[in-house]
Amino acid sequence: MKCKQLLVKGKAKSVYSTDDRHKLVIEFRDDITAFDGGKKDVLKNKGNYNAEVSAFFFEYLEQNGIRTHFFTMVDPHHMVVRKLEMIPLEVIVRNIAAGSLVRNYPFREGAPLNPPLVVIDYKDDARHDPMLNDEIIVALKLATPAELKKIKKMALEVNRLLSSLLSDHGITLVDFKMEFGRQGKTIYLGDEISMDSMRLWDKKTGESLDKDVYRFEKGDVMAIYNRVVQRITGPVMNK
Ligand code: ADP
Ligand code: CDP
Repeated sequence: MKCKQLLVKGKAKSVYSTDDRHKLVIEFRDDITAFDGGKKDVLKNKGNYNAEVSAFFFEYLEQNGIRTHFFTMVDPHHMVVRKLEMIPLEVIVRNIAAGSLVRNYPFREGAPLNPPLVVIDYKDDARHDPMLNDEIIVALKLATPAELKKIKKMALEVNRLLSSLLSDHGITLVDFKMEFGRQGKTIYLGDEISMDSMRLWDKKTGESLDKDVYRFEKGDVMAIYNRVVQRITGPVMNK
């Protein structure tokens, strides 16, 4: 599948049209950003690591009944996906209190959240992705009440499936972000699920295995991403 025209250049990925009007190619670049783009770098192989983990997760989710945009990989950093009308929501599922939840509310870092929380932010960099509620989402016509219900149900099911998979590899899924889109009336999981969009803690040591290593300069980010890819896509260790 050949890339035709660059449609969108985001902070970490580029989206291209193809000869098939229903398909796009997403290029996972080596750019990494944090703090609303305030911290930026180019880290060799980052795109490949995130693409490999995303593709692995999308295939696993499809096998377990979740509709995703994923078709196939063209090479280690180009993914063919279904073209979606993206819904500008950042749908975050949280199993353990961390990050902005602890900064903005009186949760203790590391406190389990049972049942998991679904938190939805408005995907709008200029407004710093403010948190939404159902009424605002519907009033802004970002999604219908039925779509919102479906998105939350899918988000919790993806969380259940990924938490279980990662746990088998000795990793706790603390929280993660998803983006959804529609084709006709059908809602699909889009974008990526990778170390850039998840918070992962080693079950034994509590060590960060995700973008927090970059955000807070906790170590050699690419060495950790590389190790996490091997762990996630490799044989189960903790069954
Ligand atoms: P951002 O800077 O917005 O965080 P990225 O660098 O991740 O974005 O670029 C990826 C872009 O591709 C985002 O705008 C995302 O919403 C969009 N996207 C992801 N999956 C699809 C899809 N299946 N169809 C259309 N657009 C998509
Ligand atoms: O990471 P930060 O504390 O700024 O934000 P958060 O609200 O605690 O993020 C929750 C989860 O969503 C983390 O796993 C983030 O990596 C992810 N996220 C993301 O991928 N993209 C965003 N724009 C915001 C959050």
